[in-house]
Amino acid sequence: MGGNPSVRMFGAVPEPTSSGDSAQPAKVDGYVLHPTTLNENLLKAQYAVRGELYNKAVEMAAEGKDIIYTNVGNPQQLGEKPITYNRQVQALVSAPFLMEHPKVTELFPEDVVARAKKMLGLFGGALGAYTDSRGALGIRKEVAEYIERRDGVPANPDNIYLTDGASVAVRYVLNAAIRDENDAILVPIPQYPLYSASIQLYGGTLLPYYLKEEKGWGMDIEGIRKSIHESRANGTNVRAIVFINPGNPTGQCMTSDDLKDLVKLAYEEGLVLLADEVYQPNVYQTEKPFISAKKILSELGGPYSDNVELASFHTVSKGVLGECGLRGGYVEFVNFHPDTIDQMYKAASINLSPNTTGQLSMSLMANPPKPGEASYESYKKEMDDGLASLTRRAHVMTDSFNALEGVTCTFTEGAMYSFPRLHLPQKAVEAAKAAGKTPDTFYCLELLKETGIVTVPGAGFGQEEGTFHMRTTILPQEAQIADFVQKFKTFHEKFMDTYR
Ligand SMILES: Cc1ncc(COP(=O)(O)O)c(C=O)c1O
Repeated sequence: MGGNPSVRMFGAVPEPTSSGDSAQPAKVDGYVLHPTTLNENLLKAQYAVRGELYNKAVEMAAEGKDIIYTNVGNPQQLGEKPITYNRQVQALVSAPFLMEHPKVTELFPEDVVARAKKMLGLFGGALGAYTDSRGALGIRKEVAEYIERRDGVPANPDNIYLTDGASVAVRYVLNAAIRDENDAILVPIPQYPLYSASIQLYGGTLLPYYLKEEKGWGMDIEGIRKSIHESRANGTNVRAIVFINPGNPTGQCMTSDDLKDLVKLAYEEGLVLLADEVYQPNVYQTEKPFISAKKILSELGGPYSDNVELASFHTVSKGVLGECGLRGGYVEFVNFHPDTIDQMYKAASINLSPNTTGQLSMSLMANPPKPGEASYESYKKEMDDGLASLTRRAHVMTDSFNALEGVTCTFTEGAMYSFPRLHLPQKAVEAAKAAGKTPDTFYCLELLKETGIVTVPGAGFGQEEGTFHMRTTILPQEAQIADFVQKFKTFHEKFMDTYR
């Protein structure tokens, strides 16, 4: 029995037994919500990014050990500075009385003050008030204009919902799509565990499709088609396909051809496309720029552009902004039935309103300072420097992993992660088995104990049987990255010496 003993002391209410007393709910050990009587879907759901490794790290931190959190793409946790302009606007909108201060124009550039006034207007004069459940209309219009600039295709603010991070938007759609365990969603493996955990929570079925590491984590479209047909022959309703571009944890950027094949597959097989495009600003090479699924739809034209149902997700948590804690995201619905979009509105209404600081940060992402405005040059410099730094870090990480014995690592073309493959010696595999761990979990736990570096074993994302990986972010600051890489190298050499 767990729990707070002082709470137990108030258990003066006689403890009912479940047998024979129909007026009382069944209790286990005195609890109605005993861990063994919870919703089974909650019990089964797993979320490795904050799983065993993370819990061990928290324990070590409580003992005073230095921990480097590279288990989650959370840039500001590792020292990334927020973009000045964005926080200046946030400050004034949060504390509007500052705009009346006689020195406001000495402290804030004029475009910041003007933007803050405009934003306050979009929130009906108060950041602390609920907005429309889809988010403030003025901000949805800004997002629509951002999408139009990006794709050269019109976007309708009525089809854009602002949410508390992209995660909430993903879950609205999964919740709507999954009716029972017979409904399956195709998910890439390795995947970001938001998908596996949410599909489990909603009681659906995850149908895996494996990305091909030897092809730079590319897709095998015909393999996916085969798996859809096999599942349908067994009576499963395969309803949607998730893809993550740029990829997490795999870091690949999809080519225009791959995207076209995927859209055609969705059309031919009657699947909803769930386009996780949260890493669209995080691209570290020029050969494969980010291309949105919506743009591909329009390039392909009919019947694809007006038939394939597409939900595209974006966020303020990633990119150079890295405003993970402000919880701003959106989903754009393309080719969805209007009544289905209305049902999503109802789902959003149950939460009343997405949080307003997240909406404000989404506005700042979608509609940044323009050339000629007072903050433009400094804003652009901070954004460009941030991206250049991430690009350098992507290279340093990949190169240093590839220099290690028994490690191969695909270049991080985009997103925020390195996902090296660990070719572990047999002795290490046996030691892991004896410890009751998967070999990659064993490796990551040893790494954590030796260095304080928290990573996530490949098992948390799914991986081809018999392969082992590890995910780390590329986010340690440049001043610390040499030390980070050295710590890793020293650990790895010692590990290999022990188990080779
Ligand atoms: C692929 C992917 N999708 C969605 C999210 C959710 O981001 P947020 O809810 O912070 O917007 C993340 C966060 O790491 C992610 O990696």
